[in-house]
Amino acid sequence: MANPSNGSGNMLLGFVLATLVVAPVSVLISIYRSEEFNPASWPADYKEKTITVPNVRSGILKISEKIGEGVLRGPEDLAYDATSGFLYTGCEDGWIRRVDLNTKEQTVEDWAFIGGRPLGLAFGPDKTLFVASAYKGLLKVGKDKEVSLLATEADGLPFGIVDGVDVASDGTVYFTDASYKYNLSMYMVDGLEGRPYGRLMSYNPATSRTEVLLSGLYFPNGIAVSPDQGSVVFCETIMRRCKSYHVRGEKKGVVDLFIKDLPGFPDNIRYDGDGRFWIGLAAGMNKEWLLLRYPMVRKIAHILSKYGDFTSSLLKGSGLLAVSVEGEPFFLYQDKALSQTTVGLKIGKHLYYGSLVSGYLSRIHLDEDVVEGK
Ligand SMILES: *[C@@H]1O[C@H](CO)[C@@H](O)[C@H](O)[C@H]1NC(C)=O
Repeated sequence: MANPSNGSGNMLLGFVLATLVVAPVSVLISIYRSEEFNPASWPADYKEKTITVPNVRSGILKISEKIGEGVLRGPEDLAYDATSGFLYTGCEDGWIRRVDLNTKEQTVEDWAFIGGRPLGLAFGPDKTLFVASAYKGLLKVGKDKEVSLLATEADGLPFGIVDGVDVASDGTVYFTDASYKYNLSMYMVDGLEGRPYGRLMSYNPATSRTEVLLSGLYFPNGIAVSPDQGSVVFCETIMRRCKSYHVRGEKKGVVDLFIKDLPGFPDNIRYDGDGRFWIGLAAGMNKEWLLLRYPMVRKIAHILSKYGDFTSSLLKGSGLLAVSVEGEPFFLYQDKALSQTTVGLKIGKHLYYGSLVSGYLSRIHLDEDVVEGK
């Protein structure tokens, strides 16, 4: 302080530092504070460890064939009509398209236009196709391709992301709303917030009545009726688990855990008619997810996501997991470069798989022991 010129030099330096460092930091702090987005802590029973799958085949992109490239964009779910040999899928442009599996070329054709973003698809006993349409609600498409809207809300609460659907042999339709708070374009935000905004519903085609079976679910996504028709298995994406809801018998209304600590984030689940459920894993349990265990980090990630896309590496390592009807993991097909795989369906010797974002449907030739259901 003895030298006055040094003193003003220090002041100048201090001013420059304040401008360069303190000001941006305080701007960031005020952005952080003013953001009305407050992620939740994960529930105490949520674990980051993953189960061990006895059989794993990595690198499936190398052995995958593409079907309908450029036409089947974002084939999110699959429904197979074994009688006609047509495989149906909902595309991002609002078309339901079908692949003729009787033809060697696997010919693709437009089938019915429903608009919006069709996700889950399932045939009823009379071949009515039920569609979970993310932005619209639960729809059906008759054999004449006439589209009807069946439900847009339940108990007075409008649906946000109608996501998965399956139909029991008695005609009851089971479907999920992944989140009443967010829409499909905001699904990552729902995951970052980490609160249970989802519900499981049934729809009775005879009475047109929608009933809420369960609420407070963590992004309930895919759903599949069990082969004995006694329960419906649904997957809670952000908790990396699937649960079983009993629909008849002594345990009617009871929820059991079906499988937990999955090696990725479950999307659709489909029964293959051969003793196994196939779960699409939209993303692997990548190490980046470990950082997101902290609500504060998820809040920062949400703020940063307004300035760029940081999610692509999070969504890698996607795949398909086959599990027994008791929920025992059996076989994992995956690829570290694969992302946003949403569904897998075993048909004969092939596994057809779809994605929220790819420009085609894929298929691989299954390993022999998987084909034979050993
Ligand atoms: C989804 O929600 C966001 C935020 O509320 C909104 O800005 C956007 O328009 C919605 N998208 C659609 C397709 O409805």
